[in-house]
Amino acid sequence: MIAVYPGSFDPFHNGHLDITERCAEIFDEVIVGVLRNASKNAMFTTEERCAMASEATAHIKNVSVRSFNGLLVDFMKLVSSRTIVRGLRAISDFEYEFQIAQLNRRLDPAVETFFMVTNAKYSYLSSRNVKEVASFGGSIDDFVPDPVLARIAERLKPKTFMLEMTD
Ligand code: PNS
Repeated sequence: MIAVYPGSFDPFHNGHLDITERCAEIFDEVIVGVLRNASKNAMFTTEERCAMASEATAHIKNVSVRSFNGLLVDFMKLVSSRTIVRGLRAISDFEYEFQIAQLNRRLDPAVETFFMVTNAKYSYLSSRNVKEVASFGGSIDDFVPDPVLARIAERLKPKTFMLEMTD
């Protein structure tokens, strides 16, 4: 069975890697689906986001990375999969995830969404937090796979950080 793990992955962090590794043990094939038209505030281009996800999952034989545009259910047809996997960190994720799962089912009743509970050690991680910590010069060594760390370091290299006193 082929599962699709879709997302913006801007960037792919250790929580994403953990879900991908666990999925790969359950499904015959896992496709990490990188959304092309992600937010305008994306730090990385689609190509960079795909490259980071590919580099981070290179050690898992049955995982591949593909980008997609438009509706997820159309991408599901394209890759002959009926199984979407999404990670759930907390109850706060649930409302949004429940909505998109219902919407996707309405768009294509053949598609099922499976939720995977995030490993507790990554429950606080989000791509947004990773970018914020990195952009203020904090250490993200424990948050992202090495290839991602290298690209973020490269991206932020020209910037210098000024510590502003507020009082
Ligand atoms: O990592 P994200 O940004 O939470 O992932 C959201 C994603 C990519 C799963 C969702 O935005 C998506 O599937 N977008 C494609 C467009 C689509 O199918 N929209 C209808 C369901 S939201």
